[in-house]
Amino acid sequence: MTPVSIRQVPLLDLQAQHKQIRDEVLAEIVRVVDAQKFILGEDVKQLEGEIAAYCGTKYAIGCASGSDALILALMALEIKPGDEVLTTPYTFFATAGAISRVGAIPVFVDVDEATFNIDPRLMEKALASRPKIRAMIPVHLFGGCADMDPIMEMGQARGIPVIEDAAQSIGSEYKGRRAGNIGQIGCFSFFPSKNLGGYGDGGIVTTNDAALAERLSALRVHGGKRKYYHEWIGMNSRLDALQAAILRVKLRYLDGWSTGRAKNAEHYRNQLAKLAVSSAPLTPAEYQTRHIYNQFVIRAQNRDALQTHLKSQGIGTEVYYPIPLHLQPCYAFLGHKPGDFPVSEKLAAESLALPVHSEMPAGDIDYVCDALRAFHA
Ligand SMILES: Cc1ncc(COP(=O)(O)O)c(C=O)c1O
Repeated sequence: MTPVSIRQVPLLDLQAQHKQIRDEVLAEIVRVVDAQKFILGEDVKQLEGEIAAYCGTKYAIGCASGSDALILALMALEIKPGDEVLTTPYTFFATAGAISRVGAIPVFVDVDEATFNIDPRLMEKALASRPKIRAMIPVHLFGGCADMDPIMEMGQARGIPVIEDAAQSIGSEYKGRRAGNIGQIGCFSFFPSKNLGGYGDGGIVTTNDAALAERLSALRVHGGKRKYYHEWIGMNSRLDALQAAILRVKLRYLDGWSTGRAKNAEHYRNQLAKLAVSSAPLTPAEYQTRHIYNQFVIRAQNRDALQTHLKSQGIGTEVYYPIPLHLQPCYAFLGHKPGDFPVSEKLAAESLALPVHSEMPAGDIDYVCDALRAFHA
């Protein structure tokens, strides 16, 4: 008997995406390789201009990764050892890791259950009781913005800068304003799984502040505006010309891909509303005028069993993130215990990302929804 093959619905299908743009990308790779100019240069400059225009900011400065973008932002704002930085425990590790890399201490507050993003009411309380907080890093998780108005108001009232961790949210809009154009600095990642992903690591920092832009451009090349003259102690965090050239091709497709994701998310929502399942799909908040769905995340109380069931049906899923940062072993020194941030802990136990990429063939979302229905029958 020939085995029955199960339909495969991967969480992400970069090969399918690459097929659409293969010829254009390969031509760019050949051009850069033939020129033998690999570090920063004209391609990076062009990309920086295009990303700044895309985000609506005056400046964009390319760097080696989204993690470095956060470190550079903290360095540019002169966050020092012993300073405290307010952020969310329900994010990818790099957000807090960057704070620790500059010697500062992450101060966590819980997230809002409706958006998975940092809760401004809790930020206010933390700011009132912790005078050493010198910066705030709200994260625009999964492609949706944090509630930025109250955060910016708190920052302005206290003179505390806001760094947007927009690694997952290029093109996302809060009340019509693009992510990265709201706080003092925006940080983006070009990790391959992002909506605008490179063919390797890469990142970029956005700002409207000329002095910060100048410092950020210097910090990524060891803190010198001129070669061998160092105003600051920086680092090596340059964006490759090859990545920039590839990203410039992909940027032309980005809106189409993000719109495709949003349509898929809408399709899920319609289907899931009809299903009497316990999973609650994430509905964007009212202020979210554009969500780019880097992930489409549902919640289920029996999440692990659901994930196993979907896997048996050929459906790829992922848990973002299984352990909130305050409970990570490396942050044991902060003295947190289970129950300190109950919403983050609940989301960590219940959330499951479903495939939502724009390359999904017609019928795949219905197939996933059928599998969800079968699980809950
Ligand atoms: C929220 C968030 N911040 C920062 C980063 C770090 O980006 P990179 O992987 O490019 O260093 C990521 C990447 O996954 C992320 O999701």
